[in-house]
Formats: sequence, structure tokens, C-alpha cells
Amino acid sequence: MKANNQVIFNNYQNEINECLLSITADKPQLQKAVCEAMEYSLSAGGKRLRPMLVLEFCRICGGDYKKYVEIACCIELVHTFSLIHDDLPCMDNDDFRRGRPSCHKVYPESIALLAGDALNTLPFEIITNKALDGTISFETAVKLVNVLSSAIGVNGMIGGQVIDIEAENRKISLDELNLLQSLKTGALIKASCVMGCLIADREDLIHYAERYAENVGRSFQIVDDILDVEGSFEELGKPIGSDKESEKSTYVSILGLEESKKISKVLTDEALKVVENFDNNDFLKDVTEYLLVRKN
Ligand code: IPE
Ligand code: IPE
Ligand code: MG
Ligand code: MG
Ligand code: MG
Repeated sequence: MKANNQVIFNNYQNEINECLLSITADKPQLQKAVCEAMEYSLSAGGKRLRPMLVLEFCRICGGDYKKYVEIACCIELVHTFSLIHDDLPCMDNDDFRRGRPSCHKVYPESIALLAGDALNTLPFEIITNKALDGTISFETAVKLVNVLSSAIGVNGMIGGQVIDIEAENRKISLDELNLLQSLKTGALIKASCVMGCLIADREDLIHYAERYAENVGRSFQIVDDILDVEGSFEELGKPIGSDKESEKSTYVSILGLEESKKISKVLTDEALKVVENFDNNDFLKDVTEYLLVRKN
């Protein structure tokens, strides 16, 4: 990544991290355990790609993105919920996440489960509060809630997780795998880009954001599957070989490493073409290229 874009990337991460900490700062005494578990998983780091996409799409759509960091963080709350649940023994049964023991290894499984649940509802409180305090219009709030809730549900991330779990130990077709991916990972990435357009009040640009996200989202999951084979635990901060151990259907298991690498490059190039439809796209182009070569 170019030095100036790396600075922007770090600034985005810092603003997002600060905001996430403020969101979980208040810890009512009797519910403290669940609040601490939420903060534990949120503060462990992570790339912050999804909230960054919200803010960056807002910016390239001409919006005053600095006003909307808390709204952008909503997608990270949902994503972190999905990771806490994804690691549970009844799901992928992984003991490490973001370089630390998984939430359920530090807190009782019941508390980890509830921390995920609480992280899933908090965004709706935040978005509706932003309408009530006048930061966004009621109409924008309804649209954000609509986009976010459908990206989480049966036809979004949760649906993808169901297909993922049920595709263990059997060979699925590439079409099924693409559907699995577009829901499991693609839905939240697409919602991020669309939410950025919505808060900038540029619904006319949503179709580009969607096309960008479809390509980047698929490439992102392919790279995630590749890293599960070729990555290192130190760099990834989560166990490698987890997919093989659970006999998951992944891009690597269906297509092999070489073909997976080829396709992720083609999808990245396609996403880069879509970015050309936006002005001030230099940072987004760099981020898109970085996602292909990332090590975590
Ligand atoms: C990991 O997501 C889970 C997938 C959807 C593939 P990220 O790779 O964005 O994880 P963090 O947020 O950086 O930890
Ligand atoms: C998880 O996919 C996607 C989610 C909805 C959390 P993976 O199971 O491949 O994610 P990692 O590799 O554990 O991060
Ligand atoms: Mg999983
Ligand atoms: Mg997993
Ligand atoms: Mg994975």
C-alpha cells in the first residue's frame, strides 16, 4: 500500500477502535460479565475492513463521513458477534481469534453466546438513536436497519453459516459454494458498502457499491480459505488448518490452491474496474489490492 494510503488506513482503524471502545465503555454492574466479554472480543483488533468500507463509500460518494463513525461501527459489532459464535464448540470449535483465546475460552460459553447476541442487537439501538438525535433522517435509519438486518438473517450471514455447517463432510458444487460465500461473508461486506452510499444520500450509486462488494467479498473469502492452508498462526491470529479439520467445503477444497489464487485475482481486477466509477478512488483501489495479498 502507498505510504499516504497506509496513513489513511491507520487513521480509519484508530477512529474505529476508539469509537468501539466508547460504545462498550458503560458496564452496568450485574451485567458486567457480558459487557466485558463484548469488549474483550471487540478490542482484540481485527482489520476493521467492514466499518472502513462504510466510511470510505460514504466519502467517495461525497458524504461527511466523520459524522458517521458510530454508524460504521455497527457493522463491526455484527461482524464480531458472528466471529464469537463462529468459534463456539458447536460451530467451528476454534480456540483462538484475533491473536487471543476465543471469547468462550476466556468467559463461560453461556456468556460468550450472550455477548454475541448483545452485539447483534446493539447496532439497531445505535442506528435508531442516530435518527432520534437528528444525525440521520428517519428515512435513512429505516433504510440502514433494513439493509443491515437482512444482511444478518437467513438470507444473509446466518443463512451462509447454516449452509457452511451443513456442507461439512460432503462435496458441494461450485454454485453452492458461491451461494454459501455470498451469504456467509459477502452479505455483510455488501451491506457495508451500501450503508456508506445510504448515509451519503447517494442511492443512485448503490448498484456500483453492490457490484464492487460482490467481487471483493468473494475474493475475500477465497483468500481466507487460502490463508487457512498457507497462512501462519502468528500472522493470522487464528488457528490454521481449521477448515480441513472440520472437513469444510472451501474454495481450496473444491478448486485447489492454484485455481483459487487465479480466481481471487480475477475478482480483484473486476472490483478495481468498478471502483473507476467513483472519483477520489485512490485509497479504495489500494485497499482492494491489499486485500488480495493480506497475510491476516
Ligand atoms: C474473518 O473476517 C471471517 C470471515 C468472514 C472470512 P476478517 O478477516 O475480516 O476478520 P477480522 O475482523 O480482521 O478479525
Ligand atoms: C466465518 O467464516 C464467516 C462468519 C460469518 C464469521 P470462517 O469460519 O471461514 O471464518 P474464520 O476463518 O473462522 O475467521
Ligand atoms: Mg465458520
Ligand atoms: Mg471459522
Ligand atoms: Mg476461514
